[in-house]
Amino acid sequence: MPKRKLILAATLAIAVLGILAGLALADPASQPSPATPADIAAGGKLYDKWWKAAPGAAEPKGDHPLWSTQTTNTRTGLDTWRCKECHGWDYLGKDGAYGSGSHKTGFVGVSEAGNSKTADQLVAILKGSSNPKHDFSAQIDNASLTKLAAFLKEGLYDTKAVVDYATKKPKNADGAAGQRLFSGSCAACHGADGTKLNFGTEQEPEYVGTVAADNPQEFLHKVRNGQPGQAMPSGAELGWTVQDEVNVLAFAQTLPAKAATTLPKTGETSQPLLFLALVGLGLVTAGWAARRALARWTR
Ligand code: HEC
Ligand code: HEC
Repeated sequence: MPKRKLILAATLAIAVLGILAGLALADPASQPSPATPADIAAGGKLYDKWWKAAPGAAEPKGDHPLWSTQTTNTRTGLDTWRCKECHGWDYLGKDGAYGSGSHKTGFVGVSEAGNSKTADQLVAILKGSSNPKHDFSAQIDNASLTKLAAFLKEGLYDTKAVVDYATKKPKNADGAAGQRLFSGSCAACHGADGTKLNFGTEQEPEYVGTVAADNPQEFLHKVRNGQPGQAMPSGAELGWTVQDEVNVLAFAQTLPAKAATTLPKTGETSQPLLFLALVGLGLVTAGWAARRALARWTR
């Protein structure tokens, strides 16, 4: 019967549509909600100094339990608890910038794990699944561990592709574009020349320019993720690309890196001095001429 066939076809069509719609709805729902740029940047700040970035976290005491398994890095206390101290600002551990020098520990990087492990596996590693001494669950809350995992999965990038490790210079950068970004997003706090905030001491100041020159990997990490415990914005949240941050690095490397008194006295400081000297000389000459003229008249 044609009518029966029609009903059957209509029922089938509705069933197929229903299944498709169900699948479309179920698929995103079965995935964990994707990490936002704010989550990833929060993870980056935790990686930098988690006790300044995790809600309710206390400053850890003593040395990290894994610290004594290496002897090359002689720092003690708080530094030994920072993810970056063991795994590097470039996420490459012993294969990166911390492969030599005073920060050398010989510990692995995190970029390979970030690429190959799931977010759940990464959280498990932070709870000691691979090594009970690598358990941060008593100190860092679960939501923050999830943000750390999101950062490891989605916030890392290939530092060696953008920075020449030997010269510490960006490989490919547009400093003028960097200057525009710096004026718009950094100068309000750091000053147009980056010396308004000093992270060091008066004798040994540390400015934006100092970090950019000494440690481009650290600079890029901070600009991408922000400064733990501070209102500093993060490039990731501003929607910047890594290239934008590299451009800012190039510009920041042109800014003062040392105390003003040890800078060569050029331009700004010597010009007014020269001007004063010339004016003084002019006044002395004019005075001498006037006295001679007066002497002539009254002679
Ligand atoms: C005191 C040094 C130290 C600190 C601090 C530290 N780790 Fe580790 N981490 C290690 C060592 C050593 C390993 C090597 C594997 C093991 O024993 O589990 C490791 C392994 C890892 C791995 C797995 C790497 C792999 O390829 O399997 C990840 C991911 C990781 N750490 C992330 C972190 C994060 C995130 C933090 C900060 C909350 C952190 N680590 C803090 C020393 C440290
Ligand atoms: C809302 C204010 C604010 C803005 C905007 C800001 N910063 Fe910062 N920044 C800070 C503060 C506060 C610190 C920490 C100072 C300290 O630790 O003494 C800091 C620290 C830094 C550090 C060094 C951190 C260290 O520990 O060595 C760098 C590098 C830096 N900022 C770069 C930038 C760049 C580049 C921009 C623009 C993308 C920027 N900042 C925008 C407030 C800001």
